Amino acid sequence: MEIKITNGKTIQADPGQSVYKALKDNGIYLVASCGGKGVCGKCRVKLLEGPAKVGSTAKLLQKELEEHMVLACTTFPEGDIVIEIPEESRLVIGDKIAISRSKDLRSFLHSVEAGLIPAIRRVYLELAPPTIQDHSSDLERLRLALAEKGLEGMRFSHGFVLDLAHSLRALNWKFNLDYTEDLYAVAIASPEQVDRYGLAVDIGTTTVVVYLVNYSDGSLVDVGMTYNSQMRFGDDVITRIVHATEGGGLKELRDVVVNDINDILAPMLDRQSIRSATVDSVVISGNTTMSQLFWGLDPSSIREEPYVPTLNTYPIWDAGTAGIKINPQAPVYTVPSVGSYVGGDIVAGVLASRLHLNSEIALFMDIGTNGEIAIGNNEWLMTAACSAGPCFEGSGIRHGMRATEGAIESVKIDPATFEPTLGVIGNATPAGICGSGMIDAISELFFSGVIDQRGKFMRDLKTDRIRIEDEGPEFILYRGERRNIVLSEVDIENVMRAKAAIYAGVSVLLKEVGLSLDIVDRIYIAGGFGNYLNVDKAIMIGMLPDLPKEKYSFIGNTSVAGAYLCLLSAKMRKEAEEIAARMTYVELSVSRGFMDEYMSALFLPHTDMSLFPTVQDLYKKS
Ligand code: FES
Repeated sequence: MEIKITNGKTIQADPGQSVYKALKDNGIYLVASCGGKGVCGKCRVKLLEGPAKVGSTAKLLQKELEEHMVLACTTFPEGDIVIEIPEESRLVIGDKIAISRSKDLRSFLHSVEAGLIPAIRRVYLELAPPTIQDHSSDLERLRLALAEKGLEGMRFSHGFVLDLAHSLRALNWKFNLDYTEDLYAVAIASPEQVDRYGLAVDIGTTTVVVYLVNYSDGSLVDVGMTYNSQMRFGDDVITRIVHATEGGGLKELRDVVVNDINDILAPMLDRQSIRSATVDSVVISGNTTMSQLFWGLDPSSIREEPYVPTLNTYPIWDAGTAGIKINPQAPVYTVPSVGSYVGGDIVAGVLASRLHLNSEIALFMDIGTNGEIAIGNNEWLMTAACSAGPCFEGSGIRHGMRATEGAIESVKIDPATFEPTLGVIGNATPAGICGSGMIDAISELFFSGVIDQRGKFMRDLKTDRIRIEDEGPEFILYRGERRNIVLSEVDIENVMRAKAAIYAGVSVLLKEVGLSLDIVDRIYIAGGFGNYLNVDKAIMIGMLPDLPKEKYSFIGNTSVAGAYLCLLSAKMRKEAEEIAARMTYVELSVSRGFMDEYMSALFLPHTDMSLFPTVQDLYKKS
């Protein structure tokens, strides 16, 4: 059977195959937040011609049904069909994303007194060339020279010896040998080649970030970033775990993310004229599911009681086996995890924030796709995952999208006319709304009296910005020629659930240690989302605690910053291991207190207004 795509190619579909699956098999990816399960409503396509069995359409509006819109994942061709894929349904993974570079990483490294002790060591050797009288093998000759430098017991892989004869002779028996701290030979390099490179990699649920670092001096050479291609199989870790358990899914998930790393790396090396063989060390940081998938480990036990991952501490891997296209002998270090829902990214985050060394009590919040929190100081550390869900990344929101060009990122609403003023990333035509835009919009709708404390629309306002659709009332943020961008009551409910989970997570964690919020001296906000977050507005909707703004610090992507520290310093790797071992994990899903806190936080900003005095004052004045 054929599927013809208007303005595109014609592809083949197997009998019984959904349109979504047929497109995916042909390299055409749709936004599929639920991984093709028919519940997110994001994979909309227009069925223009031909017979098809159309399954659930529950997520489609009457108007969309009239326009012959269907969900690609619940539509099965029964003959040749013609479809149209709307722009907003296409998943564009290769897009470059704006990168917020960490300031001066070298001074950061210096400020944490880490010292430059990379995982790779270097020794200069001069070997006596073989003669007819001295015919010991190349490797014996090398071992002897190492023994003279006190480096007995060096181990050599097959990959290393493959090139040994050629390298020794090409360098005239005078060379640097790079080796790991536990004595694995990694590379033979010319004495002239001073610069050595490594990679700090953050595998996020949504994005993959790679720092190319010169570890001779700690400088950041280049930065690359892309969307995590695993998004083809679902937006959150749970849909990916489910996909991993389906035939071949695990390999598919591992392969695509390794390809992402290689796809970021190749143009970076080209740009910087660096040979891939001179990159010989990698540190990977990610949440537990991302780390396990990178390792090719079945993640199913992560979501089954008692929620135990296969590994928390990872052995050192080599790049050749891992599939990263650099020196195949390069060691690959994975930042250790704490448990199933608090991974190496949070350990790296705490490491980069330094909260584990200070006496002041600090709260660390990574508000990305998952939502993890850590609290503590130099004496104790507690952590929890609050299952906020990926709605701040656009998932589960009718016109939700990630913070890329075209996303509405700020909203102001005139309380007299209810007319919105929008800030759009890249000053482009609005294509959707991202996390910070949603927080802004909800806060503005609340303070201008458009929605009440429960997030429900007031019914008697004189404005045509509010309309009632099949799913319920919605507010038109932007009127477009082709389509409007709205925020519906259902969207607001989803954001309120996410913000309630975050706030309840913080409250429960504090209660576990018998402390109240006023004891918190500092709050670190991390994650890609943190870069765009308006703290005042986040406090107004009750997502962040009502504490003085000076206590908040944005620290950007701490997962990759922590990976950078681990790449360059043995001391930092040791600290990361200590942090993972010291952290007490609190499972919020089994905490009775969590449900109570969560229910109380399902209001704007909270059922107990006394917890939000600043907001209370503003509300009275408005
Ligand atoms: S509804 Fe089709 S991918 Fe979610």
